[in-house]
Amino acid sequence: MKVLLIGGGGREHAIGWKVAESPLLSALYVQAGNPGLNQIGEPVEVNGEAPGATQSFCEANGVDLVIVGPEAPLAAGLADALDAAGIPCFGPTAAAARLETSKAFAKEICAATGAPTAAHGQFAGADAAKAFLRGQAPPYVVKADGLAAGKGVVIAETLAEADAAIDDMIGGRFGDAGASVVIEEFMEGEEASFFAICDGTRIAPLIAAQDHKRAFDGDKGPNTGGMGAYSPAPPFTDVVREETIEKILKPTLAEMARRGAPFKGVLYAGLMIDAGAPRLVEFNVRFGDPECQTLMRRMESDLLPLLYGAATGSLPEGDVKWRAEHCACVVLAAEGYPGGYDKGARINGVADANALEDVVVFHAGTKSDGGVLRANGGRVLNVTALGNTLEQAVRRAYEGVDAIDWPTGYCRTDIAARALKRGQGRRSA
Ligand code: AMP
Ligand code: GLY
Repeated sequence: MKVLLIGGGGREHAIGWKVAESPLLSALYVQAGNPGLNQIGEPVEVNGEAPGATQSFCEANGVDLVIVGPEAPLAAGLADALDAAGIPCFGPTAAAARLETSKAFAKEICAATGAPTAAHGQFAGADAAKAFLRGQAPPYVVKADGLAAGKGVVIAETLAEADAAIDDMIGGRFGDAGASVVIEEFMEGEEASFFAICDGTRIAPLIAAQDHKRAFDGDKGPNTGGMGAYSPAPPFTDVVREETIEKILKPTLAEMARRGAPFKGVLYAGLMIDAGAPRLVEFNVRFGDPECQTLMRRMESDLLPLLYGAATGSLPEGDVKWRAEHCACVVLAAEGYPGGYDKGARINGVADANALEDVVVFHAGTKSDGGVLRANGGRVLNVTALGNTLEQAVRRAYEGVDAIDWPTGYCRTDIAARALKRGQGRRSA
């Protein structure tokens, strides 16, 4: 099978690393630029946000499957163009991607299916939004309706802060994405990300991971794309898993099909779990980054038939198999991220980290400069490790971090600390 993988971050390196193991793979084309991807596939100049050109590349090269990592090409209609051309695409159409690209649409689907989620109101004008806020209790949750690169959510302790967030969003800070705002009830609990591969009518449930969204230790500092992850996620019990599948994922898939926008690809349910019950925080229509890195390390089954089955409406029967080990992922980011940061600093020691037992380093924002590895983005490297216990996985991941020499990089030092503290890091027999 000839595969084209769209996207150039750590998530895509992890997907490519896993796909490269498949005996079904005959060629892997990857987006040029990421040195990790360039080592496992043939680098090509493609841009997923230009669907016509990507389609032409696939036709010229006999590509059998396109795997789309990030959301932007999906929102730009890449899956629509490939579907129309008869090229199997792992990723939803723009209409189905609205589960992520419009928070108001996701809420509408929850209302139609009865999926558990926060109560909310949606407003196109600042005055109506502010009036609604006055009927709510703090903390106040204010969200831009559209895609805002993970920065469109403000949790405000005071009305003044919440009002300012509304003015900011409706005032155009996120362009059209903020043209309307969603105000939500604040949900207490612990978060987990759960993933299921979908073929339009059926799902193959995967496993859950926990992300660390804030930049600094102790969940301090600004929100980021994710500073680390681990899997399994302790609050995601078997009961929570069953409820998430039966009350959220399956009804959503049925409702999307009923509306003529069947969902294929990976559906990511961001959950808030309280007292053993999950409620939906948000849907995404792609793998989480860095959660995906932990899933790919733990997956035992061949990923390729799953992705191809999802793309062609023929998901294979049978459960997806997983390694029993825990996985931890520590993100190394450039000083200043998620604000401004410098690019170009030299990074040494990635090969030393990779040589450690059960450690794999995925590349996110790096580039190769005549054989020298340099930082080239905000989130730069993802150090993953497996372990028989969560504690061991975390220790190995930080040994990997210690092997890497990059003075202007930083990472959180408390990945999985909450789970380790509650003593649930130990794998049950
Ligand atoms: P989202 O982009 O919708 O995932 O929101 C980003 C983060 O904001 C989530 O991961 C949660 O930590 C937090 N959040 C969003 N909505 C709520 C809510 N209704 N209650 C509590 N926390 C929330
Ligand atoms: N790590 C969170 C996300 O990918 O949205």
